[in-house]
Parts: sequence; C-alpha cells; structure tokens
Amino acid sequence: MLKEEIERRAEIINKAIAEYLPELEPKGLYSAARHLIKAGGKRLRPVISLLVAEALGKDYRKILPAAVSVETVHNFTLVHDDIMDRDEMRRGVPTVHTIYGEATAILAGDTLFAEAFKLLTKCDAEYENIVKAVEMLSDVCIKICEGQYMDMSFESRDMISEEEYMEMVKLKTGVLIAASSSLPALLLGEDEGVVDSLWEYGILGGIAFQIHDDVLDLAGDTGKDWGSDLLKGKKTLIVIKAFEKGVELKTFGKQRASVEEIKEDIKKLKESGAIDYASKKAKEYAEQAKERLNVLPENNAREVLVELTDYLVTRKK
Ligand code: IPE
Ligand code: IPE
Ligand code: MG
Ligand code: MG
Ligand code: MG
Repeated sequence: MLKEEIERRAEIINKAIAEYLPELEPKGLYSAARHLIKAGGKRLRPVISLLVAEALGKDYRKILPAAVSVETVHNFTLVHDDIMDRDEMRRGVPTVHTIYGEATAILAGDTLFAEAFKLLTKCDAEYENIVKAVEMLSDVCIKICEGQYMDMSFESRDMISEEEYMEMVKLKTGVLIAASSSLPALLLGEDEGVVDSLWEYGILGGIAFQIHDDVLDLAGDTGKDWGSDLLKGKKTLIVIKAFEKGVELKTFGKQRASVEEIKEDIKKLKESGAIDYASKKAKEYAEQAKERLNVLPENNAREVLVELTDYLVTRKK
C-alpha cells in the first residue's frame, strides 16, 4: 500500500530531523524555527529522495542529510510564504508568524535556509558531487524566490496567461520537487542523463502538484486557511480559466468575505468547469512526469514512485 510505503519513509525522515535539527539557544528562535517542521506535513519531498536512492540500488543513508535538506528548504519557504500570503493556519496549527511575530518568523526561516545547505555537506558522497549539489540547491532557492515574486506580482495584474502561470508554478514549486528527485542521483554520481530525467520528473510532477494545491485551496479541510487564494486575489489556473469564460467573483481579492459568499464563488467556479479543467491539467502533467521515471531500473521503489506521482494530484491534503 502506498500509504504505508510513504509513512515508513516519513518516519525515517522524522527521526533524522530530530537528529540533524536540534533545538539550541536562544530558545525563542529555535522554538520558532522548529515549530512548523515538528508539526509534520506529508514529507513527500524527502520521501521522493529516499525512493530515488533506493530505485538506483543505493543505500539511502548516504543521501539522508540531502533528503532532510530539501524538507528544510521546503519549511523555510513555507514560513516565509505564510507571511507573504498572510495565512494563519498550516498543518492544522497556527503559522509561525501568528505565534512568534513576523520578525522572529523571518529569522526562523533564515535559520532553516542556512541549515539546509550545511546538511548537504554531511552526505556520504564524493566532494565534487557535494559541490555540484550545493550549486543545484542554490539555483533552486533563487528560482523559488523568482517564482514567489511572480506569484505576488500577478495579484495586481489583470490578465495572466496560462503560460505565465505555468512558468510561475514551475519556479515556486516545481524546482524544489525537481531537486528532491535529482539531488540523490547527482550525489550518488549517476550519469547526467539520469540526473536530467529525474529533474524533469520533478518539474512536471511539481507543476501537477501545485495545480492540485490550488484546487484543494477551494475544497478546504487541508489544515490550511480555506479559500485563501481567492481572498488574496491569486491568479490560479482555476481563476485564469474562469475569467476567460467571463465568470465574475464576489470575493476575489476582497480580504474579508463571509463563508456564504466564498461558497457562492466556489459554486460559480465549479459550474464554469474551471476546477475540472485545472484537475485535468494536473493529471496530464502527472502522466508526463511518470514517463520520466523510466530512466530508473524496474523495481519496487520505482513502482512506489509511480503511485506517489498519482497521489500528488489525488491527495485530499
Ligand atoms: C505546500 O506543500 C506548499 C506547496 C508547494 C503547495 P505540501 O502540500 O507538500 O505541504 P506539507 O509539507 O505536506 O505541509
Ligand atoms: C507556495 O504556494 C509554494 C511555496 C513556494 C511556498 P502556496 O502559497 O499555494 O502554498 P500554500 O497553499 O500556502 O501551502
Ligand atoms: Mg501560501
Ligand atoms: Mg504563496
Ligand atoms: Mg496553496
């Protein structure tokens, strides 16, 4: 079962997080820096890393610090993203800035960001490959900033094309999932062709993942603020399609709206077919991603990765 395959590896990651990311002094800073990562989450990125190492027939322990590293970068981006998106809930708990204040939340994110790079140096890999991994993760972090900037700047623009949306989500979300799938291969000294296919896998899977995340924002019950994208005026693929069809939304970019008003807008989005359109697109990207996994030897770990790719676009949280 996919659930058990993921949970077993997520448990390995949780133990490694406790070991690699200790709570030091000053306490206030470290409680803030550890708040979100201790609250859990699906751990999909590091689980992908472990599965890739296993599929390549290697001991995952060699790249375990890199797996924790991508989860650490992920958590850093989430802490800062919640400040930018003014969101109050994540993983079923209040966001870091809601509890500790914005200034400390910025520092908590910065701490995680630096810790992620330090972790990469702890991998059991050739020195040369560690340098390449540091270069890849640096590029990835720069691209995430570019994507997050585009995401914000689209709020104040009237029309965003589907191409612009795809580029934005590739940067804000795709590249980190691409790092999760390709860093293990890079560190383990695999051929460039293998690393490149695994990178493409993550980009395609990451785009699929983000489109589905936008769908889930409307579904609710995710442990995150429901309808946040609507109220912030985010140009998701769903609203891009809906606007193209002439749908008018009452709550879009409105900051405050009643539950009834949000429900009404979601009903309109459903009836316009925009949500189904986005879900279909997400599934198409996931299918394309799966093809890239053919670069891996046929084995159980590869099979689990294929199933996990379907899960990226069918998950409820
Ligand atoms: C949320 O990622 C941020 C996005 C890129 C959409 P996840 O849905 O993987 O969040 P957690 O780690 O499970 O909480
Ligand atoms: C953010 O996308 C992706 C990041 C790079 C953090 P979202 O803003 O949609 O992520 P959630 O929904 O808050 O998790
Ligand atoms: Mg957000
Ligand atoms: Mg955001
Ligand atoms: Mg979202």
